[in-house]
Amino acid sequence: MFAGALGALVAVSLAHEAVYAVGPVAQEIFRQPAEDVPEWLPVPNPTKSFWIDSPDANPLASEGSSGSLTTDADVCIIGSGMTGISTAYHLSELLADSSNDPLSAVVLEARDFCSGATGRNGGHLTPRAFMKFSTYAELYGEHEALSSLAIEHHTSNGIVNIVKSAGLELAVDLVEGGHVDVFFDEESEIEARADYKAAHDAGADLQDVQWMDKEDMLSKFGTANSGVRISAHNLWPLKFVSGIYNITKLKRGKLSLHLHTRTPVTSMSALDSQPAGLHSRRWNLTTPRGSVACSYVVHATNAYAGHLLPHMRGSKGIVPTRGQIIAIRANASADELTKVSWSGNPGTEYWFPRPLNATEGEKPLVILGGGRVHAPGHERFVIDDSTVSPVVGEFLRGFLPDVFPGKFDKAREPEMEWTGIMGYTSQGDPFVGPVGEDYDGQYISAGFTGHGMPRAFACGEAVAQMIVANLTGQTWTAPAWLPQRYLTWNRP
Ligand SMILES: Cc1cc2nc3c(=O)[nH]c(=O)nc-3n(C[C@H](O)[C@H](O)[C@H](O)COP(=O)(O)OP(=O)(O)OC[C@H]3O[C@@H](n4cnc5c(N)ncnc54)[C@H](O)[C@@H]3O)c2cc1C
Ligand SMILES: *[C@@H]1O[C@H](CO)[C@@H](O)[C@H](O)[C@H]1NC(C)=O
Ligand SMILES: *[C@@H]1O[C@H](CO)[C@@H](O)[C@H](O)[C@H]1NC(C)=O
Ligand SMILES: *[C@@H]1O[C@H](CO)[C@@H](O)[C@H](O)[C@H]1NC(C)=O
Ligand SMILES: *[C@@H]1O[C@H](CO)[C@@H](O)[C@H](O)[C@H]1NC(C)=O
Ligand SMILES: *[C@@H]1O[C@H](CO)[C@@H](O)[C@H](O)[C@H]1NC(C)=O
Repeated sequence: MFAGALGALVAVSLAHEAVYAVGPVAQEIFRQPAEDVPEWLPVPNPTKSFWIDSPDANPLASEGSSGSLTTDADVCIIGSGMTGISTAYHLSELLADSSNDPLSAVVLEARDFCSGATGRNGGHLTPRAFMKFSTYAELYGEHEALSSLAIEHHTSNGIVNIVKSAGLELAVDLVEGGHVDVFFDEESEIEARADYKAAHDAGADLQDVQWMDKEDMLSKFGTANSGVRISAHNLWPLKFVSGIYNITKLKRGKLSLHLHTRTPVTSMSALDSQPAGLHSRRWNLTTPRGSVACSYVVHATNAYAGHLLPHMRGSKGIVPTRGQIIAIRANASADELTKVSWSGNPGTEYWFPRPLNATEGEKPLVILGGGRVHAPGHERFVIDDSTVSPVVGEFLRGFLPDVFPGKFDKAREPEMEWTGIMGYTSQGDPFVGPVGEDYDGQYISAGFTGHGMPRAFACGEAVAQMIVANLTGQTWTAPAWLPQRYLTWNRP
């Protein structure tokens, strides 16, 4: 079923920029040879993002970057984004409920804490309600189409529940503002309505979906296009990841956690075989600061996975793809802008106003991303987030003034502009599970194709479950919310 679906990919309608409406990606984007990317590690001196570079936003930035390196751990997690820290968090949670011996884990991060896609993204936590349902049902069957929605709700609910039970709502700027998709052309709306009907017929929960005509949209939001509103949140992703790192670190439980930022893993090799079992250190990770011996390795490196796993480079693996964002001051009040988050022509451009602790008259800052398709090559195979694309930047500057006449000033320059690297896969889905033969004890959770906020946290959870099952000699059973086609062993 999974292999057969590949041939059909070319025929379906395609999502070009997937922050929200994911789906299979046009095959022509993978024609470029992987050799065009000379170096698959994060570059130094990335552009400054609102989430990372606002004052005091990243107290963990250089954590563990000096002093002695942890040279030995049961579990080595490479990457400190949403996926890597979720894996650590869930390992700690799973072990707390078990009779296992305590474990040690180390997170190795090439740059500053959470300075990859998670620290540079659009901030939307938008679980799909029904978009692309027909595409998934056609390719993989109704059951998979439903689990594709289920994982996004499982993730979003999980994140929101943790934030609320830890009292972190203000610390992470959690906003329950809903999400509106604007339709700039009739075909998009027709497609969305067909997806809605298919999801409805399959039994998806669509209670919160609200269709809005042009008049309604004009009076509520000031844009003369139709749209559809669903439930959604937005938050400060880096602060959420810091929050769950803090919880995991401080918990006096069965996982001792260490973090080393500014410590790229440049290569890895197998250690001489030792007796099988948990404490057998199978892998040697090399960093400029020394090497680390590990029993389990988790690749939470998203766009950069190909550096340590060469078979992940290119069309069957993960293609680094650069996204760009501006932070632009609106010419309207917070009340006028509302707290809704948006995407236009589902998923292509995406934006929301920053929640404001509004001093009287202050105008919100709007975080807007997209426009990638206007750049030559659509920014595919671009791994350099130390620069921005002028073409994309120009497009983004003109976008909001056109959509919301009078609410933005065309002449105003953005206060910040940055890029980040997404990890695209041809299927549009992440790889989750064991890396495969010759990589005993290694797992991957990567390739979120620009739509990671409502998926990465749960995929980290799945990998943590697999590791705990493996070390206790149990068979891992997939949770109902995990699409089967994400699993590494089901990939074509
Ligand atoms: C511009 C942009 C906008 C986006 N907007 C949204 C959005 O609004 N909503 C949404 O759902 N998704 C969005 N996404 C996607 C989302 O941000 C990602 O899917 C998600 O953050 C992936 O998390 P991650 O932890 O897997 O990867 P990352 O956050 O990229 O983490 C990987 C980490 O691994 C580190 N690393 C890589 N290689 C090595 C190595 N060899 N050694 C040590 N460390 C290494 C990197 O430095 C990085 O910190 C956007 C992405 C971008 C770039
Ligand atoms: C995490 O801990 C650091 C260091 O103690 C602290 O500065 C930061 O505010 C905490 N972050 C969150 C989101 O709780
Ligand atoms: C780990 O790899 C490094 C660099 O490749 C090497 O110098 C070191 O000896 C290795 N460690 C072990 C224990 O094999
Ligand atoms: C706004 O600021 C006040 C005072 O600093 C603080 O108590 C309150 O929690 C803030 N509200 C939000 C939503 O940040
Ligand atoms: C900005 O807002 C003011 C006050 O509402 C309005 O008079 C002005 O025309 C707006 N500017 C632009 C460029 O839309
Ligand atoms: C699970 O554990 C066994 C025994 O330690 C090991 O041989 C096997 O390779 C592990 N599986 C994975 C996927 O790591």
